[in-house]
Amino acid sequence: YHLSVDSEAASKGTYPHFMLKEIDEQPSVMRRISQEYFSSKGEVEVDENIVNSILDSDRIYIVAAGTSYHAGLVGQKIIEKLAGIPVEVHVASEFGYYPPILSRKPFFIFLSQSGETADSRQVLSEVNKKGHPSLTITNVDRSTLSREATYTMLLHAGPEISVASTKAYTAQIAVQAVLAKALSEKSNYESGKQFDLQTQLALVANGMQEIVDEKQLLDDMSRRILTDADNAFYIGRGIDYNVALEAALKLKEISYIHTEGFAAGELKHGTIALIEEGTPVIGFITDKLSAGHTRSNLQEVLSRGAEVFTISMKRVANENDGIILPDVDTLLTPLLSVIPAQLIAYYTSLNRGHDVDQPRNLAKSVTVE
Ligand code: AGP
Repeated sequence: YHLSVDSEAASKGTYPHFMLKEIDEQPSVMRRISQEYFSSKGEVEVDENIVNSILDSDRIYIVAAGTSYHAGLVGQKIIEKLAGIPVEVHVASEFGYYPPILSRKPFFIFLSQSGETADSRQVLSEVNKKGHPSLTITNVDRSTLSREATYTMLLHAGPEISVASTKAYTAQIAVQAVLAKALSEKSNYESGKQFDLQTQLALVANGMQEIVDEKQLLDDMSRRILTDADNAFYIGRGIDYNVALEAALKLKEISYIHTEGFAAGELKHGTIALIEEGTPVIGFITDKLSAGHTRSNLQEVLSRGAEVFTISMKRVANENDGIILPDVDTLLTPLLSVIPAQLIAYYTSLNRGHDVDQPRNLAKSVTVE
């Protein structure tokens, strides 16, 4: 697909791999999104046609694939909480063949870094035939999904070259938060109006910077528990479960370790049978509500011989956590908790001698169904 960018932006510069460069760019992408979508007076700025069209609908359907689908799972929580509009999230290749019963006035949001994913394009052409309004949130202006949707919002993340998507994931979550904020302002929905997104995005950018500076810790941990692993687990509850899915995909697609992102509370219903001596289990613990339960799930796997590493947040941390993230609002924790997972995937792939940017069997944009 076309790279409508200057060659400098699409070069590795001093980085060994595009993936590491793109992971490091995430703090500045957060700041760029804040600049693009907030006025100098701090008011959120989203095309009011988009806002009005969504407020005129009765349900939002997010359709995406892969990492973008995982970003949609987080966006669902953010939009429902901040704007009070019900949201469903669907894998594009499933929606295309087995669509749900639609609400009376549906609004479709397509999340796609490339804007060219065939599964998503197939759904958009059906949506257009039915005359439903749609918004594409994408990193590539004038991409197919952008041109064929009613509206577009750009990620402003700069070119993402590495097959493993990193900054597009965090940018998609941030732009969905911007949209939710704009919806709440127009509809006077209290919890969104109270939410100081611009301050939170600045906190996130600073927090991301702190974590991308922890490369050595994550390289060491990857060498210790992942380099020779045959399988691995990321577990969490709620929004931490959503990130566990993305963390697992990152590790799978560039290290080739069979990794599951799993609901922590669900392990005891069968899957814990897979835990044996040395099985790596990485737990996300960022929310007070579920921290205690996830910690006991980690205790259960630890007692069965697992190698446990925890990615926690200051407000729920304890001293033997692997990495402790600075606090941000619970709705935005994935913007920070995914960073260690991105770096763990990067170092594990490197330590196992794989081509980080061009993993086997994969293409950057899947333009065939
Ligand atoms: C993610 O790391 C993968 N490269 C892949 O799952 C990707 O997210 C998916 O193919 C969707 O691509 P899109 O965002 O360009 O639509």
